[in-house]
Amino acid sequence: MLSDKDRIFTNLYGFEDPGLKGAMARGAWDGTKQILEMGIDKIIDEMKKSGLRGRGGAGFPTGLKWSFMPKEVKERPHYLVVNADESEPGTCKDRDILRNDPHTLIEGCLIASFAMRAHAAYIYVRGEFIREREALQRAIDEAYAAKLVGKDNIHGYPFDIYMHHGAGAYICGEETALLESLEGKKGQPRLKPPFPANSGVWGCPTTVNNVESIAVAPTILRRGASWFASIGRPNNTGTKVFCISGHVNKPCNVEEEMGIPLRELIEKHAGGVRGGWDNLLAIIPGGASVPLIPKSICDDVLMDFDSLKNVQSGLGTAAVIVMDKSTDIVKAITRLSYFYKHESCGQCTPCREGTGWMWRVMKRMTVGDSHPAEIDLLQEVTKEVEGHTICALGDAAAWPIQGLIRHFRPELERRMAARKVAAE
Ligand SMILES: Cc1cc2nc3c(=O)[nH]c(=O)nc-3n(C[C@H](O)[C@H](O)[C@H](O)COP(=O)(O)O)c2cc1C
Ligand code: SF4
Repeated sequence: MLSDKDRIFTNLYGFEDPGLKGAMARGAWDGTKQILEMGIDKIIDEMKKSGLRGRGGAGFPTGLKWSFMPKEVKERPHYLVVNADESEPGTCKDRDILRNDPHTLIEGCLIASFAMRAHAAYIYVRGEFIREREALQRAIDEAYAAKLVGKDNIHGYPFDIYMHHGAGAYICGEETALLESLEGKKGQPRLKPPFPANSGVWGCPTTVNNVESIAVAPTILRRGASWFASIGRPNNTGTKVFCISGHVNKPCNVEEEMGIPLRELIEKHAGGVRGGWDNLLAIIPGGASVPLIPKSICDDVLMDFDSLKNVQSGLGTAAVIVMDKSTDIVKAITRLSYFYKHESCGQCTPCREGTGWMWRVMKRMTVGDSHPAEIDLLQEVTKEVEGHTICALGDAAAWPIQGLIRHFRPELERRMAARKVAAE
């Protein structure tokens, strides 16, 4: 269990002053100039050594990503873009950072931008986040007033930071759709390559990082890579904000050690599963896009990238959606299928047509109006969608269904048999 002294987000719950004074009392903006004086190579090296993996879902190593930016600034300026779209169902961590600990993010933006030779950062905030936008803008204004950022700031590195408010679409969380939207266009993912580090926003070298990935950077650099790397286990290091929702007694966000056992996470922080651990049916461990895991796996799985991958699921955004035995599991996954159908941007045929097709089949399967052979067909179609689209929304639509078939096939068959008997 993470000890209090190792927490990065010490105002996650907003019990204290989120403003500059409060943030500084908690250690933000402490020695930022000295961090910049470490120089670009040392900063990136430390970030790599810390083992931090991106907190936006895919878990790509953050230091490595920063190192992909060109080593020289030529005619095209460099940019940092922070992904504060947070639309993955079940995920509600970045909004708490924006509302209650925004200076961790702003300081992180300055340091990350410096390390990537960018003099401007854009924070793309989800359209529905009104209070979060206001809180973030307040904090940005405070940072400008105190000359912590700006063209002539006290750190000696000219740097501007802009908050951009989106219009509210799940697909705008995908990094290249986000860049299109930031440019004022329809939020549709771009084909890669070119990757944003070569051609990102306005065709300039850009790095897109999640809010949490950037907000943890100042503390990592202050306390040292080895401190961060000592938490968790190799390749799965550091602290992580987990979001626990669904059938638990006390839904919450909590910063914990990466690799904490799932059961401990739920029982220590969320008051346990409603009706007790034995009343658990299944959990979606990383936001709606990752395959569910049944109770038998939940019993001893660890909450980190590699452990969850080993059980054919994923850490994703670390949004833990708990479902007890009262859940109609087929209906629940069907509802997610509807979400992906609704949010598909429609550019690629497998996603545009496949998400609708999968949802319609799932809807019939909810009431058993199907034939067992159709389960294999559905599985096959998920495989045709997965990996065959411009962005990962296609995978996100396929995986929950694959998880359902993998672990609850008998339940699908039971419904079909029951309907057949009722019709006879
Ligand atoms: C459909 C879709 C939605 C996404 N939504 C988000 C989001 O809301 N926030 C986020 O940080 N990343 C989101 N991502 C992941 C981003 O594309 C990108 O990988 C991430 O922002 C990179 O940051 P990181 O390296 O710090 O994790 C989404 C990806 C897809 C395919
Ligand atoms: S996979 Fe879906 S959401 Fe992504 S680009 Fe293709 S159609 Fe759009």
